[in-house]
Amino acid sequence: MTNRNHMKKEGSGLRNTLLIVTALVFIIPFLIFTYIFYRHEIALDFIQMMMVAFILVLILAGLMILRQLFEKILTMVRLMKKVVAEDGEAVPAKRGVDEVQYLTETFEALMGKLENTTSDLGHKVFELLALKELIEIASKTLDFDELLSALLEKSMAVTSAQIGSIFKVAPNDKRFQVVATKGLRGGPEKYSFLNIDGSISQHVVDHHQPLLVKDIEADSRTQRPNDPKYGSPSFLSMPIFVKDELIAVLNLSRKGENGIFDLSDEQIISIMIGEIGFALENIRLYSKLREHLERLQERTVALEDANGRLSNEIDQRLSAEAALNNALEELKQTQAQLVQSAKLSSIGELAAGVAHELNQPLMVIRGHAQMLFKKRRPEDEDYDELEMILRNTKRLMKIISHLRIFSRQSGTEFIPLDLGTTIEDCFLMIEEQLRLGEIQVEKKVSEDLPKVWGDPNQLEQVLLNLITNAKDAIEQKAGREKKEISDESEPIKGKLTIEAHRDPDAHNLVELLVSDTGSGIPKEIADKIFDPFFTTKDVGKGTGLGLSISYGIIKDHKGEIAVSSTGPHGTTFRVKLPTSAESS
Ligand SMILES: Nc1ncnc2c1ncn2[C@@H]1O[C@H](COP(=O)(O)OP(=O)(O)OP(=O)(O)O)[C@@H](O)[C@H]1O
Ligand SMILES: [Mg+2]
Repeated sequence: MTNRNHMKKEGSGLRNTLLIVTALVFIIPFLIFTYIFYRHEIALDFIQMMMVAFILVLILAGLMILRQLFEKILTMVRLMKKVVAEDGEAVPAKRGVDEVQYLTETFEALMGKLENTTSDLGHKVFELLALKELIEIASKTLDFDELLSALLEKSMAVTSAQIGSIFKVAPNDKRFQVVATKGLRGGPEKYSFLNIDGSISQHVVDHHQPLLVKDIEADSRTQRPNDPKYGSPSFLSMPIFVKDELIAVLNLSRKGENGIFDLSDEQIISIMIGEIGFALENIRLYSKLREHLERLQERTVALEDANGRLSNEIDQRLSAEAALNNALEELKQTQAQLVQSAKLSSIGELAAGVAHELNQPLMVIRGHAQMLFKKRRPEDEDYDELEMILRNTKRLMKIISHLRIFSRQSGTEFIPLDLGTTIEDCFLMIEEQLRLGEIQVEKKVSEDLPKVWGDPNQLEQVLLNLITNAKDAIEQKAGREKKEISDESEPIKGKLTIEAHRDPDAHNLVELLVSDTGSGIPKEIADKIFDPFFTTKDVGKGTGLGLSISYGIIKDHKGEIAVSSTGPHGTTFRVKLPTSAESS
């Protein structure tokens, strides 16, 4: 009812106008015409009556059409009023202004509204585009600062802010670090640090809430004088979170249009921050991963260094140990040689003395025997005996002369020498002992034996040592066998073989083999026989120096000495010596 009243009220202006028009166009002329006809008694014939009636009907029809037109205008006014009223900005109704006027004003208001809506729409499209670009950057970059800089740029664009900055919040640190800044000359430098306490953004850090301030001086949360370089006193500070952790604060100020930031600014920025949240978290994970990787690489490098140092140290220690072992070995050799040379020099002195003492009576015996022999003929009775005396005295002379050379113990003198001769010289001294021991001797010296480069005295010593050892081993075995069969009358039987030939495997070496059919070397002592002072013989019989001296001599000759084979049937020692340059 009230509504209808209201509608009636709303259309009264137009209806009044229609009434006036109806009156002017129809009622007043009709009354005037009726009066004139009545006064002058004008009588209309039928056709005239019909004409007048027709004109009246036409006028009525025109008025009806006019009325309908006015109704339509009224409906339009009502609709417009409704639209404008919905927007909350209705054009105030003025007294005395009719509907057409009202219609014009409402239409203008509507046009204004349309313009606003279009501009709003344009801004929304701009915001959407900015958001799209930001998301694109977020999907591509793995650089934290680059993404935050892009966020700052887009935020400033959509809010028309002219000054902006992003501060990173370092965990457990009371400071901000400036990661991006724009629009303010003389502001904080990029990557510089600022104290959180007392700063504008402290409120955001403390409450984890956006800070939208219209007037910095009036707002209870800030209440400080506005710095003129920031222009208007309004600003917006937004927290940036990654998984509930506050990582940065975005600050915007000096808004372009009216200078005041509003809720829609806060909303669009918070949408932007929300959209790049995943990317920020990814970047953080990625940078953590990279940090781990770098630390791992550093540790690997450090470990490799330490490893290198350790293996260097080990090498150094090993070589020091080897040098120490060598020195020890040399010391042992020197000691052995000292003992041996002392032993040999006393033996040599004794031998030289004995040789000298024997030589005189031998010369007398030989001189007399020669004199007697000259007077004898083969058919004489004592011819053979005298001949035997001469032969043996000659042999004795040879032994004595060799003893003299052997005992001289001169310094080493390397010459190309014939090993066959050295073997013969050696046998001069030991042959008799071997014969007494009933040891069979076999010598296999090849005819084309090349000369070796060596010291005859020293090589003779080696041979003598090997032959003496072989003899001892044969005697030891025979002694044991003797005890086992307990037959005292049984002669000692054994065999010593000496072979010398060119090494079948190396053309420039001579191989010397000394084999016996003695007791063999037990496994448990095999690796000790070359050690100085190692002996299995009775005290006084063996010093344990023979083989160690021999080893040293052969090494000095750049040769090799080793046990080639050993067992219950005997032992073979193998010596290899380089041939002299002239024979190779
Ligand atoms: N041909 C061999 N058969 C069995 N054992 C051997 C033979 N040659 C050496 N040996 C063993 O090696 C040990 C060391 O020999 P080496 O010649 O160095 O000293 P030695 O003969 O005991 O004493 P020295 O040579 O001073 O008289 C001997 O005691 C012996 O046990
Ligand atoms: Mg020996």
